[in-house]
Amino acid sequence: MSQVMQSNASINLELTPCSLTDEQRTAIITAAQCIPTGDNAQPFRFKWIENVLEVYHLDALGRHALNYNNQGSFFSLGCLIEALNIETSKMNMSPIRQLSKDYSNEALPWLTVKFFSKKRTLSPLVRALHDRFTDRRSFKSPSQELSKKLLSLTSHPKISNGEFYFANPSAKINRIIATSEDYLFKTPQVFKDIVETFKLTKKEIITATQGLTAPNLNLSFSENMQLRLLRRFPWLVNIIWPLYLKTMSRLKTRFILKNTGQLVFFTQKDLSTEAFINTGHRCFYFWLNLTKEGISAQPMTITPFGVTATASKAPPKIMSSKFINLFKKNHRGLKKYFNWDDNETPTWMFRVGLPSTDKVLLRAPKKQISEVTLDISNSQKRP
Ligand SMILES: Cc1cc2nc3c(=O)[nH]c(=O)nc-3n(C[C@H](O)[C@H](O)[C@H](O)COP(=O)(O)O)c2cc1C
Repeated sequence: MSQVMQSNASINLELTPCSLTDEQRTAIITAAQCIPTGDNAQPFRFKWIENVLEVYHLDALGRHALNYNNQGSFFSLGCLIEALNIETSKMNMSPIRQLSKDYSNEALPWLTVKFFSKKRTLSPLVRALHDRFTDRRSFKSPSQELSKKLLSLTSHPKISNGEFYFANPSAKINRIIATSEDYLFKTPQVFKDIVETFKLTKKEIITATQGLTAPNLNLSFSENMQLRLLRRFPWLVNIIWPLYLKTMSRLKTRFILKNTGQLVFFTQKDLSTEAFINTGHRCFYFWLNLTKEGISAQPMTITPFGVTATASKAPPKIMSSKFINLFKKNHRGLKKYFNWDDNETPTWMFRVGLPSTDKVLLRAPKKQISEVTLDISNSQKRP
């Protein structure tokens, strides 16, 4: 059974339920919003029923080509569980969570959390929880400084138990990742979905509370212009894409992989929903520790997406059988490289490192608390 479920199962009977103040509720929702979400979709909504927190997933917001079977949303749910755990350490509370029995029914909460009084030591990750961000800039090449920091992290039992694999970005591994990215971006639906989520004009950037913003994405001026053009004239994709953008995206991926300290793969043997939530939980914990050590990270969904999707019984409809076979070939390459077991599948991957530039990235703003909190008086309504 996954770690998330295990820790949930052992409810301490000596705990007393908490009565939360308004400030505590606000702090809890603010912390819950610090999590990464695929394409910054921010699909979760929160509802307080007295002192119990319900977390809903809005399928319409989470519906995206790369959020295959809600896999990305489950990673985020795992991150959210860790965020609540960290934030409540400030309040001497212990959150006891119950996961949904039917994630396909969006009228049911994906997660229900009860809060109990418990003496806690302040989590050393509180600051990192609020400081963490996705860093898409160039990183310095592998260095002793980085290796030393990563080595000190891997002595932690939650990080070192054989599911995190570290690799220097070699030509071979970069090729595997960059070609996987290519295969996916050759799928027009994926590209169109991604263009939709970009917020490109100044006004959009200021008001955007969801989706990806140009400064946050570290886009060049010409990339920004092309995407703006495509947003205005979507049909242009059929002309520009085959001629130019595919090559650009390939070059960009290769560039960003080259300018990377280390690559980190997280693998799963079990592809159940609980295992994906657990991956989110563990990877987020890892990411926050990186932040605490001053190391930047960027999740890169592309390779794991293809590999996981093709490992599953029902590959996504957007993928042709040709690409499924190509992803499988890439999986064999990764497996050989890392010496993975037959049933070991990479599900999430990060590039990590120390930024090689001081250029500041603007953060995509979070939503207002009132926007993400569902009204208690509407409790009968669907979220
Ligand atoms: C499942 C998942 C997959 C992600 N994949 C990517 C990715 O492939 N490339 C990327 O640059 N960011 C990726 N992200 C990061 C999100 O875009 C980012 O979390 C979001 O824009 C919010 O920004 P923040 O992390 O700085 O708070 C991913 C996040 C999640 C949860």
